[in-house]
Amino acid sequence: MLNIVLFGPPGSGKGTQAEKLIEKYNLIHLSTGDLLRSEVAAQTDLGMQAKAIMDKGELVSDEIVTKMVEKKLIEHKSAPGFIFDGFPRTVEQARELRNTLVDHRTKVTMVISLSVEREELMKRLVKRGEETGRSDDNEETISNRIDVYGRQTIPVTYYYDKTHIHHPVDGIGKVDEIFKRIVDVVEKNK
Ligand code: AP5
Repeated sequence: MLNIVLFGPPGSGKGTQAEKLIEKYNLIHLSTGDLLRSEVAAQTDLGMQAKAIMDKGELVSDEIVTKMVEKKLIEHKSAPGFIFDGFPRTVEQARELRNTLVDHRTKVTMVISLSVEREELMKRLVKRGEETGRSDDNEETISNRIDVYGRQTIPVTYYYDKTHIHHPVDGIGKVDEIFKRIVDVVEKNK
């Protein structure tokens, strides 16, 4: 299986690049942000709990998120691989992912992390907020999402550095240029 963790701060282009990778490699997209937003849209209990946390830009509990991921892995047991987008976001989630994949007799093939500086992230997400009305794309929440990424999610890169499967990629430039950089990494490491 080809299991790619697409990593990076809010607005770094994980979702955008995930769509292109899925098309090229026929993978299943597993975005915890999208899964949570579906729960919010369906007004489930989980969705109602998650919405308040997401609107502040904080992280939903590891337990809720890892259960959602496991369910999706089971639903797509015979897939050729997955793109994990926005997951894992804590070291605990990274450990849970490792254990779950061992149960499924597979592992994370590579972690590709997109680097984009804060000013550009703010610009991209404020613009999307104006265009789409996504409720966590306002200046205050975006700023907190970036801070939370620095505090709680960056340590995940140290976890993967130890396994030598972590590949930083410059996330600045045209979408297609960045995609080419990512494909180069995938082809060398798959
Ligand atoms: P999530 O939905 O994962 O959001 P995020 O990580 O904040 O990332 P975004 O989707 O905003 O950005 P992206 O990197 O995917 O960039 P995109 O391609 O969309 O999470 C939302 C919330 O859910 C979290 O805050 C948390 O509360 C909760 N959550 C989710 N997962 C969780 C987990 N594992 N644990 C706990 N809580 C969790 O692009 C952004 C914009 O930039 C778009 O408008 C795009 O068109 C544009 N763009 C993309 N590439 C370029 C480019 N090269 N140049 C210019 N613009 C570009």
